[in-house]
Amino acid sequence: MADEDLQRRVRTVWWETDEQGAAVWLVDQSLLPQQVAYLCLRHEQDVADAIITLKVRGAPAIGVTAAFGVALGLYRLLQIHDQHAKPLTSVEALAHVAHVCALLGRTRPTAVNLFWAIERMKACAEQSFSAQLSVLEMRERLTREAQAIADEDVDACMRMGHYGAELIADGDTLLTHCNAGALATAGMGTALAPIYTAHKGGKHVHVFVDETRPVLQGARLTAWELQQEGVPLTLITDNMAGHFMRHGNIRAVFVGADRIAANGDVANKIGTYSVAVLAHAHQIPFYVVAPCSTIDLKLASGELIPIEQRLSDEVTAIRGTQIAPTGVQVANPAFDVTPHHYVTAIITECGIARPSYQETLRQLCLARIPGKVDA
Ligand code: MRU
Repeated sequence: MADEDLQRRVRTVWWETDEQGAAVWLVDQSLLPQQVAYLCLRHEQDVADAIITLKVRGAPAIGVTAAFGVALGLYRLLQIHDQHAKPLTSVEALAHVAHVCALLGRTRPTAVNLFWAIERMKACAEQSFSAQLSVLEMRERLTREAQAIADEDVDACMRMGHYGAELIADGDTLLTHCNAGALATAGMGTALAPIYTAHKGGKHVHVFVDETRPVLQGARLTAWELQQEGVPLTLITDNMAGHFMRHGNIRAVFVGADRIAANGDVANKIGTYSVAVLAHAHQIPFYVVAPCSTIDLKLASGELIPIEQRLSDEVTAIRGTQIAPTGVQVANPAFDVTPHHYVTAIITECGIARPSYQETLRQLCLARIPGKVDA
């Protein structure tokens, strides 16, 4: 599904080769919106660090970055062996790929797209090994697989935008939480894709953006992205959502997801659950937009989704300025789980799933292009 009008202004993650070898390029999201700076990563450890420190974040973007990170790892090892005129065996190459996959798999636990992408890369290396391909061919296959994961994400975003835009009417005022836009994917976003599509299609939309404490993905990233695209928005603090719902300002909520269990429970940025409960109380549709790579049919319910706990300084300080007393006890879960009965529909690249999610999600995953469901 191509749409030339939906051009992105910022590139989140991409792969390049030059005279120095291969590199994974990222826009450094920890500096946005004050600075638009790019990182050129040439070592798999730097890719892992960029994921941990949120220089790249958002479930699909993490998956794409990790996939490129695996290819990068083999490029780098081959380069070192070439410099020392020491041939790299396929056994060594496969072992290194497994090592890089393990390294990247330890970065962030909640978004399943990371593990989905790593598994695809691992399977690609194993198939190359079994087919007795040369190490150079294994490297080419891994690079192609990572690029395919990125390209599929671009396409999935476009499709989610197309399906989701059907749920948006001219004049709608919508609410979103965190950043599930272009910065969170290789394409135009998940939750923001229907909004961009509706906007480009001539519908008048206005977006209320939750600031999303503690890391402020809403204030720093979503507000910036929407502004770049010319979508009208109002930035609010997280505790204002109920007020605006009660006053009839919000017609629907659109959020992304980090992992969706087989029963439709949704893990997403901390605070999403509160928004869902508020939406339910005000009879406002609550839509989750996510590619099938975010659906984890192996987990029966959201109770089983691992929730990342992050460092306390994200809560005690805002962008380096301490706001809480030294030594205070802090809790900092990065995600929460919204039970499926608060979710009006789940919009994927294969169509829109409605309750009962147990059946509809499975059907959508089976229809997924090109992989097959493995649960
Ligand atoms: O901690 P983050 O910024 O990686 O969390 C991101 C989110 O929770 C997004 O809503 C989710 O990954 C969907 S992104 C398309």
